[in-house]
Amino acid sequence: MLAQIGVTGLAVMGANLARNFARNGYTVALHNRSVAKTDALLAAHGDEGAFVRTETLAELVAALETPRRVLIMVKAGAPVDSVIDQLVPLLEAGDIVIDAGNSNFTDTRRREAALAEHDLHFVGVGVSGGEEGALLGPSIMPGGSKESYDALGPMLEKISAKVDGQPCCAWIGTDGAGHFVKMVHNGIEYADMQVIGEAYDLMRSGAGIEPAAQAGIFTEWNRGELASFLIEITAEVLGHVDAKTGKPLVDVIVDSAGQKGTGRWTVQSALDLGSPTSAIAESVFARGLSSQRGQRAIGQEVLAGHEVPVELGADFVEDVRQALFASKLVSYAQGIDMLTAAAKEYDWALKMDEIAALWRGGCIIRAELLKDITKAYAADEAPANLLFAPAFSKAIGEALPAWRRVVSTAVQLGIPVPVFSSSLAYYDGLRRKRLPAALTQGLRDLFGAHTYNRVDMEGTFHTQWSGDKTEVEAVDTH
Ligand code: 6PG
Repeated sequence: MLAQIGVTGLAVMGANLARNFARNGYTVALHNRSVAKTDALLAAHGDEGAFVRTETLAELVAALETPRRVLIMVKAGAPVDSVIDQLVPLLEAGDIVIDAGNSNFTDTRRREAALAEHDLHFVGVGVSGGEEGALLGPSIMPGGSKESYDALGPMLEKISAKVDGQPCCAWIGTDGAGHFVKMVHNGIEYADMQVIGEAYDLMRSGAGIEPAAQAGIFTEWNRGELASFLIEITAEVLGHVDAKTGKPLVDVIVDSAGQKGTGRWTVQSALDLGSPTSAIAESVFARGLSSQRGQRAIGQEVLAGHEVPVELGADFVEDVRQALFASKLVSYAQGIDMLTAAAKEYDWALKMDEIAALWRGGCIIRAELLKDITKAYAADEAPANLLFAPAFSKAIGEALPAWRRVVSTAVQLGIPVPVFSSSLAYYDGLRRKRLPAALTQGLRDLFGAHTYNRVDMEGTFHTQWSGDKTEVEAVDTH
């Protein structure tokens, strides 16, 4: 029997996706560079469904029904190109090559265009949910041609997570759209984790609440508006005691955060799009600062603190919860703003309500909040910013007094809260009638004749700063 899908690259994510397809009734052809991995998978899980063992890519391709669906799950970057190069001569017009790794969307756009030259479909698929999600039901963000989705989408929907009976998978848009949306998902994931970390640090360093007690607080928070996978697993990590030392595990983990690149790409792309994604940027930079261990060791010795003692209010923990919620809303708002900008730039018909809906299950940022985000964007007129949707402007307005208290307390205590504070600055920036950008424009005009617009008349102007300081109408060179 011919297989409906082939999977090449059988490390944990590839193996689990292959098993997920098989468990859902599909016949899956398996391939890995070293056959030992294929055999190990078959030995351990071969009874879970119908698998076809292959040893070469040619055998893999020969094992598939047409149009062939070949899913690549190898390390992002050059390894993906190498597998594609080997596959292309083996395939026929109409076949579908799927890259389910965390590839950069610019690579996906390039590969999609290159394979289209061979009449092949290239589908960049964002898959979120880690190892367990890949096996039991991930959130899936496929890009590529609509035609390829007709042939592949139903299979992806079947293996995806479900929320209220709805699959957490939908066609995102052409070429790199799926990987772009997954990248922004990861950017939000970075910000989500950073705000959780800031809340933890404030409660620990500010209020002296030990990890075990915080595990209880996060469990409680997970019952309310913050309910989400990341809050749930924060309680688990904080409650875990290290078997070797008897200390909280969090105290024996080196405080230097790693990163594989998706957060950085999100920020690079946000800069290209001119989208002010400060919460995500600060969370990437916070990881960067944490990993500068040499400088931090010196900083601890030579930099003054001048902390100001603060009497914490009885509601401090509740204040922190509200600040966390407000900052989290900002990171989602910024992520969606960036998606809106990208949709324009790359001509993708991104549907924010569908994207929010498919993030509700299976993925790392799954959260109760996404239900209301879905609703906000399903309305006849989408808000220009998530924070303007009535439910969200109300919620963030209610959290605002606590948010301001927490940020000012953190500043006085010398506890860095880059995302709490930059999110508040973003919020205040959005609501402010006059920004000092007017002065920036004045300065740009003085040193570089970059011109400015006036509030009281149409046109573009320049003041002759080095001459008689009269104003002239100018050609717009902003
Ligand atoms: C997911 C995760 C997954 C992976 C990240 C981790 O959605 O399942 O985002 O893709 O865990 O790549 O990224 P960092 O190593 O950069 O934190």
